[in-house]
Amino acid sequence: MAQFVLPIQSRVKEGMTFKAEGASSENIKRFKIYRWNPETEDNPRIDTYEVDMDSCGPMVLDALIKIKEEIDPTLAFRRSCREGICGSCAMNIDGTNTLACTKPIAEIKGDVRIYPLPHMEVVKDLIPEMTHFYAQYASIKPWLQTETPAPPDRERLQSKEDRLKLDGLYECILCACCSTSCPSYWWNGDRYLGPATLLQAYRWIADSRDEATGERLDELDDAFKVFRCHTIMNCTRTCPKGLNPGLAIAEIKKQLVLRK
Ligand code: SF4
Ligand code: SF4
Ligand code: FES
Repeated sequence: MAQFVLPIQSRVKEGMTFKAEGASSENIKRFKIYRWNPETEDNPRIDTYEVDMDSCGPMVLDALIKIKEEIDPTLAFRRSCREGICGSCAMNIDGTNTLACTKPIAEIKGDVRIYPLPHMEVVKDLIPEMTHFYAQYASIKPWLQTETPAPPDRERLQSKEDRLKLDGLYECILCACCSTSCPSYWWNGDRYLGPATLLQAYRWIADSRDEATGERLDELDDAFKVFRCHTIMNCTRTCPKGLNPGLAIAEIKKQLVLRK
């Protein structure tokens, strides 16, 4: 049984406070973190952790690791690369979806409020259930599709101009910050593919080496899969890699309309 996070997060009740007992520093920061354990019958709560910033690294992920190692080992979150590459530490920090490992604590005034990515089922604490998101990604066949055989002695070549068309697309790390900030995805995520998957779909449509553009567009030509995007642009505003999924979706829509 997974917990479903409502976008109205203020409904979650206050939980325990872990004081920074014996800390010599006056440089204390409070982290208010969403907690939910599937093994209990308890409702979600917000626990508060006081962290001595004199002995903490600069990023929100540094504080989460310090809390887990020194204060509360039951706190659950995902992380791996700690440099904005793997996408696994995506969460809602100070009201914005972003990566904990690249979010400086110093940018946040007052208490640091941390929730899981909005409107996703929660496995535990800050860990969202990503199975549906990854299935949607797999559905767009995110690999090079060709019919002509590859040259026997080298890779498939691409002009510099064609390679440049992939900039702003290939850098996506599938963190899901954009999709989980999108109101259309909140309400229709069962059928609407969402900005992350659609940016990835466009990455292959835009690739001059791919020979399945027609089939890819046929698959996307659906009232829900693409056209539930209403150009609200939350996705582009929140992307921690500075990408523009809203523009990629607009390009898909344009190609779908122009070919009719
Ligand atoms: S487009 Fe940006 S926010 Fe969306 S999944 Fe890719 S990297 Fe994350
Ligand atoms: S532009 Fe489209 S995908 Fe991006 S937030 Fe708005 S509706 Fe969602
Ligand atoms: S830990 Fe990999 S992106 Fe943050």
